[in-house]
Amino acid sequence: METRNKNPDFDSLVSLIFLLYSFAQSCYSASDTVRQGDTLRDGYTLVSEKNVFELGFFSPENSSFSYLGIWYKFDSKTVVWVANRDEPISGCNGVLRIEDDGKLVIRDGNDGVVWSSYVPCSSNKTAAKLLSEGNFVLSRDDGTRRDPPLWQSFDEPTDTFFPGMKVPVRYKRGECRPFRSWKSPDDPSPGNYSLGVDPNGGLQIVILDNNNKRRWRSGQWNQQFFTGLPSMRNTASYFHGFVISHPNENGTMYITYTVPKHEFFRFQISWEGREKQSSWNAGEKKWDYLNTEPDPDNQCELYNFCGNYSICDRSRKCICLKGFRPRSQAQWDASNWP
Ligand SMILES: *[C@@H]1O[C@H](CO)[C@@H](O)[C@H](O)[C@H]1NC(C)=O
Ligand SMILES: *[C@@H]1O[C@H](CO)[C@@H](O)[C@H](O)[C@H]1NC(C)=O
Ligand SMILES: *[C@@H]1O[C@H](CO)[C@@H](O)[C@H](O)[C@H]1NC(C)=O
Ligand SMILES: *[C@@H]1O[C@H](CO)[C@@H](O)[C@H](O)[C@H]1NC(C)=O
Ligand SMILES: *[C@@H]1O[C@H](CO)[C@@H](O)[C@H](O)[C@H]1NC(C)=O
Repeated sequence: METRNKNPDFDSLVSLIFLLYSFAQSCYSASDTVRQGDTLRDGYTLVSEKNVFELGFFSPENSSFSYLGIWYKFDSKTVVWVANRDEPISGCNGVLRIEDDGKLVIRDGNDGVVWSSYVPCSSNKTAAKLLSEGNFVLSRDDGTRRDPPLWQSFDEPTDTFFPGMKVPVRYKRGECRPFRSWKSPDDPSPGNYSLGVDPNGGLQIVILDNNNKRRWRSGQWNQQFFTGLPSMRNTASYFHGFVISHPNENGTMYITYTVPKHEFFRFQISWEGREKQSSWNAGEKKWDYLNTEPDPDNQCELYNFCGNYSICDRSRKCICLKGFRPRSQAQWDASNWP
């Protein structure tokens, strides 16, 4: 006896409803989560709760490459994190998905893997969520406890240190400079400058160049501001809980800070090697730069700018300490401004 297809209209209605339902499931606009089986293509984005951060593929101005990144929902030009900074995708056919082994993977148009997150091999059912503080977090998606995350973007920062990030600094593994500049304003690949905690110990921030030479240092953190940044005294109360922790037994420490709710603030190591502090001016819809170090107008802020046994004087010229004289006049002239 034939029982199926007795009522073809009913059947197609059911499948139409099912189709609409699954369409709605896969296309609801502002999701913050990627699950196993979902694919995030170039052109689609995740949006965090409270509409603060957005994650997706972007192409810098003047660039024909695309990258997976996180930016502010209210300012898509300000990219705070880039996944595949070493492996640009030509064109705009990148996809992000969670593969069978539970890893987050980015593939290019030829299905080649350009980036993947680390996960322990035992976890194969995972989901990744963009949190409202800008962290992209991969965790188990099997009903078990969700903490700690299997992987998170805060552990692999790019060039920006923003509130709520708790960035590990692993001394014993030689990783004391978690932030690295972009190569140029249109190229997020790793540039010449890094920002981190002083590798010689001491609670201070340093900028190093690509020969690992110090370019600038903040002075010690006195629990309120950096002693070499007296201007920070004025904004000190603004920073809550800036912490450079002491290293644990494995030589790992962390740095973190928070700012008042509903304010947006960031430290960035810029492509030209300057640490820039800025806060979002919601009224004028632009970033206000509070501090730039080393100050482009004061080369004396460059670390050891005048060399050994000499200092910058008040007029910002190099002078020898008492009892010393310049080794070579030409070199000396070159180090002083016109
Ligand atoms: C995930 O792991 C479990 C247990 O090892 C296994 O039974 C299951 O088939 C795996 N699932 C996938 C999608 O690999
Ligand atoms: C893009 O190119 C234009 C014209 O050369 C230039 O003015 C602009 O600064 C470039 N933008 C970036 C981000 O490099
Ligand atoms: C230090 O490393 C050991 C071995 O990897 C680990 O068991 C321990 O939990 C670590 N301690 C901390 C505080 O992370
Ligand atoms: C980075 O270093 C290279 C090699 O020393 C140099 O040519 C380039 O101008 C530097 N870029 C910046 C932005 O300082
Ligand atoms: C400065 O002094 C240090 C330590 O004495 C020495 O290693 C370095 O070569 C000196 N630098 C110059 C430019 O003379």
